[in-house]
Amino acid sequence: MAVIGLIGGTGLDHWGEPTEARVVATRWGAPSDALMRYEQDGHTFWFLARHRRDHTIPPHRVDYRANIAALAEVGVSRIFAVNAVGGIGEAFDAGVVAVPDQLIDYTWGRAQTFSDSDRERLQHIEFADPFDPGARAMLLAAAQAAGVVLQDGGCVGVTQGPRLETAAEIRRLRRDGCDLVGMTSLPEAALAREADIPYAALAVVSNRAAGLDATPITMAAIEATLADAMGRVRTIFDHLPDE
Ligand code: HPA
Repeated sequence: MAVIGLIGGTGLDHWGEPTEARVVATRWGAPSDALMRYEQDGHTFWFLARHRRDHTIPPHRVDYRANIAALAEVGVSRIFAVNAVGGIGEAFDAGVVAVPDQLIDYTWGRAQTFSDSDRERLQHIEFADPFDPGARAMLLAAAQAAGVVLQDGGCVGVTQGPRLETAAEIRRLRRDGCDLVGMTSLPEAALAREADIPYAALAVVSNRAAGLDATPITMAAIEATLADAMGRVRTIFDHLPDE
């Protein structure tokens, strides 16, 4: 039976009624929230609300190191992340759920690594493919079993937030090769790799990115799109195959 870490983002701050809520302290600090344990379809899930269950921690203030260290502490063998993102490429309209395969980092000032002092092991992780192929394959198989259509692949540009981008920033991200734009995939994915935990993500497109639609982006529209798409995301996790 697999023990799976599930990091929920905007639109997925709660999972349901847990069998256990565990407060985990790490040497990096406190994770965003208590870890919530669920037994589901033969798997143990440890759910962590990235922005806390009351959705008050902004992307640049999330303690990504504490979050990954806490999931390592409870012994997860995989981490699946859910990220709300804006769509840049034509295939990434609002409501699309993607399994991204690449990342570009536009963040600054975040604690990026566990290799952060001479007391730590200095690691130069291999990160050409930032998402674990086996964990990605599990998500794709789960979606197929659930009858949910996913976009296989996509490059996420990770911006600092919490503001949304300017239209010119989105034009630049498009020139750089980004299909999607979000605020939280890094340093999360890199820290999971440093901790040697296979990591993959579902990127849920909540809106077309800045300047791509005639009308401005509103939080109300984002929330409505996410509420609809998260139903499909939950179904995917109901159909995760055995490892
Ligand atoms: N930009 C960055 N992050 C996001 C967006 C966006 O348009 N939508 C949801 N998360």
